[in-house]
Amino acid sequence: MRESTLWRWHMLAGAVVFFLLGLHMVIMHLDDILLAIGAGHGKAIDTTVVFERSKQAFFMVTYVILLGAALYHGLYGMRNILFELTLKKGWETLINRIFIVVGLGLFIYGTYVAVFVFLNGEV
Ligand code: HEM
Ligand code: HEM
Repeated sequence: MRESTLWRWHMLAGAVVFFLLGLHMVIMHLDDILLAIGAGHGKAIDTTVVFERSKQAFFMVTYVILLGAALYHGLYGMRNILFELTLKKGWETLINRIFIVVGLGLFIYGTYVAVFVFLNGEV
């Protein structure tokens, strides 16, 4: 794929991370305020509350999107930093391959976990 296309995906992924990670952080850290106004369901990282969210389709889908966007954004950004060192072609190929394998591996594993918990409601 052309470098400019990959860069455009990197920017798009950054925008997705901005919104979804923002939502993730609000959910993880505003629980005390929500509880105080009577709108919360308990501490955000309590096992039962985590599984309550994980059983909802909205969260399952957004976990997979955040996972993919964060992995692509982070790994492509890291690759850019490494490529600025003007490495030999062989090193660049090796970095590309390692990042693709690591990124896809983590994406498949994380997606499997999110879908498994969504379907079974437990681990
Ligand atoms: C609010 C969420 C985020 C937004 C809006 C965002 C946006 C951006 C933008 C616009 C760039 C390009 C900067 C440039 O080179 O001019 C960038 C680069 C980068 N981002 Fe993010 N990012 C976010 C979160 C993250 C996270 C969570 C990670 C780590 C996993 C990350 C890792 C990187 C890396 C490694 C680069 C490459 C830096 C470079 O090329 O010098 N970003 N990001
Ligand atoms: C203090 C910070 C954080 C806390 C307490 C936290 C907590 C959690 C918890 C409890 C879950 C399980 C799902 C849920 O309960 O909704 C989760 C999932 C997830 N978090 Fe975070 N998180 C934090 C920061 C981050 C950051 C910085 C990122 C990415 C840049 C991130 C990405 C994800 C992703 C992608 C998932 C879904 C993983 C999957 O299902 O495969 N989180 N987080």
